Amino acid sequence: MRSEKKEIDMLILEISELITLAGAPRARKGAEMRELGLLYNGAVAVDKGMIIAVGSSAELEKVYQAQKVISGKDKVVMPGFVDPHTHPVFFNTRENEFEMRLQGKSYVEISKSGGGIRSSIHSVRQASEDELFELSLKRIKRMIANGTTTLEAKSGYGLSTESELKMLRVIARLQQELPIDIVATFMGAHEFPEEYKDRREDYIKLLEDEMMPTVAKAGLAEYFDIFTEEHVYNIEQSRRLLKKAQVYGFKLRMHADEIQPIGGAELAGEIEAISADHLGAASDAGIKALADNNIIATLLPGTIFSLGIKSYARARDMIKAGVAVALATDYNPGSCNCDDMQQIITLACLQMKMLPAEAITAATINAAYALERGDVTGSLEKGKQADILIMDMPSYQYLPYHIGSSCVESVIKNGKVIYGND
Ligand code: NIG
Ligand code: FE
Repeated sequence: MRSEKKEIDMLILEISELITLAGAPRARKGAEMRELGLLYNGAVAVDKGMIIAVGSSAELEKVYQAQKVISGKDKVVMPGFVDPHTHPVFFNTRENEFEMRLQGKSYVEISKSGGGIRSSIHSVRQASEDELFELSLKRIKRMIANGTTTLEAKSGYGLSTESELKMLRVIARLQQELPIDIVATFMGAHEFPEEYKDRREDYIKLLEDEMMPTVAKAGLAEYFDIFTEEHVYNIEQSRRLLKKAQVYGFKLRMHADEIQPIGGAELAGEIEAISADHLGAASDAGIKALADNNIIATLLPGTIFSLGIKSYARARDMIKAGVAVALATDYNPGSCNCDDMQQIITLACLQMKMLPAEAITAATINAAYALERGDVTGSLEKGKQADILIMDMPSYQYLPYHIGSSCVESVIKNGKVIYGND
């Protein structure tokens, strides 16, 4: 007898708890951040890499039959994590600085005495493109195993035209080689390199007149990012560079008010950045500027945790003010060597008092909007990419509550199982 059912690629059935996060035409704000769009005993139908239906298991089972059927029994199924702020391309790790911080030196002190970002620059300049590629590939594979299906990756450890291009080519190769989406950001304004430390204006000119046009012409980055902070790029320098980057066609992101409240969040509002990140020291006026201008606040609690300090961003005040909050790892060799969005969700809850539903929203749909990809990923609904996690846990609250091992059982990207049980 010929089956009446439509033949498709994949069906996930009998899902105990399905987090859809469906129906967000823009990043979620305020009380919306608690709406997970939960379904119990739900199902997801996938064909040709896309989600074609989400509904009750009984209903979808009647309509579809699939090559591949996955059981969601005793599982939570949710959108793949989007990690919208990472620095995964580097050579050496910097655990020596971790120990220096334990002995009382601060991140800024270490950086002023020649360590920090500058020590990463030294080794990235020496390394070959192939070496950097192999190291980064291994790191991002671990991020995938931890459930990340879309990732932003920054340059910024080269700080010369040639070595920034080398980093961005590595990111382009990673995009080719790996099954996830990788979004490239040019961060030539991550620091002032050693040879320009006493002639900062000259480096700014190099950025404007050579690096920005070269990177733009090569088409190797979608965004421009800058470290706006007292000891690095001040507000005037940041405004000037961000406006110039816009002229070259880059969209804007910022490392803003991480350590000192110097008006980075206000500047993000003024220049209409897509996302302002860190914000541990953002002022009330800064938070208002983010809310008024619909700038996403990408918070990085892993960094504060790893630096062993207390200045977590005021997530509760931001949510109350109507700012859309996203979360990211900030994975990098200096201030935060964390490659796992699950840990970031736990920290967001424990240290910034975000509720589990808010933190999950921030790590999926809002993070997708922080990369302007909220229309294609970040939620499970018809018409979106099938970027899906099968989580071995009984409920969504278990995600921040559980500490230690990963809850990720399988990772599906564009309808293909790329990690875990196939
Ligand atoms: O986001 N704040 C600036 N950049 C990174 C740290 C990079 C490093 O220390 O190597 C960050 O925390
Ligand atoms: Fe960063």
